[in-house]
Amino acid sequence: MDHPNSVSFNTPSAVDSIYTSRDVNLRKGDWYQCVKDTAGGFESTFTARDKTRHALKRRILAHAFSERALREYEARIKALSTRWVNCLAAEARDREGSVDFAAWANYIIFDILGDLCYGKDFGLIHSTKNRYVTKLLPRTTRSWYMLGYHPWTHLLRYLLFKTPLRTSLGRIVVRDNSRFRDFCVASLRERIKVEKTPDKESSFSQDMFHHLLKARDPETGEGFSIGDLGAESVLLMIAGTHTTSVAIAAIVFYLARNVDKLNKVAAEIRTAFPSTEDMNYRELAALPFLRACISESLRLCPPTAGHLQRETLSAGAEIEGFLYPPGTNVGGLGVCITAQSASLVRTG
Ligand code: HEM
Repeated sequence: MDHPNSVSFNTPSAVDSIYTSRDVNLRKGDWYQCVKDTAGGFESTFTARDKTRHALKRRILAHAFSERALREYEARIKALSTRWVNCLAAEARDREGSVDFAAWANYIIFDILGDLCYGKDFGLIHSTKNRYVTKLLPRTTRSWYMLGYHPWTHLLRYLLFKTPLRTSLGRIVVRDNSRFRDFCVASLRERIKVEKTPDKESSFSQDMFHHLLKARDPETGEGFSIGDLGAESVLLMIAGTHTTSVAIAAIVFYLARNVDKLNKVAAEIRTAFPSTEDMNYRELAALPFLRACISESLRLCPPTAGHLQRETLSAGAEIEGFLYPPGTNVGGLGVCITAQSASLVRTG
């Protein structure tokens, strides 16, 4: 090969061409196949590389994120957040003001996702029993990056997942992935049982899997198979938890170190709402300084690691004025893109 097979971009215009343009001749790269291999070969929306299959999965998944569904989730998020704030305050009192906030950000997000996905209380906020799952996630994603970006990735994946090594070394490499998957799939199985014997009073009726178990693609009438649902279960728990907990921890970290900004954002929120009961997503999202604090924290500390690899298809793809031949991996690394001055927007 006389050209590089992987090119990294750090400009906002390249990000637009690679990730948002519908016409661009790209699909998800081989790294997503590696993620699928470590998940026992089950494919989720995240790992679907074929564009038609990915679009179909996205259309089905969209049922769990409709405006109506999101409105239903809001009250549940609020109730859990109130419980979290009370427990966090008690923990801070017990520990003379010092708490591991990154861990507590994980507890609230896992509890929220448990409730929103399966209508289940994982109870991480008030019990240590399930807290181990938060530690499995970084180890799971680390194995994706180590294997997926290894120069011998194909050989290693072949040896680990397609030869007798899969029951020894292969199993060790994906041990944390498997434990995390077992946790999510067990929650899904319980959820399916409940769906079959619905209780009108139960919060189960409004969660994501209530929508996903019934959802059909409006174009093809196809739904998710049980295998697909298991893969989506793991995807939602991974995509929704670690990203959001990193974001929350980063926002609090930067505000704690910039007390003038902390006071300003607190004043903005307190002026907008007479009490916490009056807070709602729509009005919170419209507060300019709060939004600026969130955006700036996401810029300084982007929660997604890695390259978000895309592969050029036949005929190649043009990015930033250059034509990249078929089979080239292109992408942008969050932390490099957001460090560029071109990513900065003054909000006043
Ligand atoms: C601050 C929080 C979040 C950030 C920064 C974030 C970021 C991202 C990014 C960059 C991707 C694209 C990954 C890729 O193409 O490789 C992605 C995909 C995805 N995210 Fe999030 N996310 C966040 C929260 C959530 C939440 C709360 C959920 C759901 C509960 C969620 C569900 C998904 C799903 C389902 C995908 C896969 C979409 C696809 O492949 O078509 N994310 N997220």
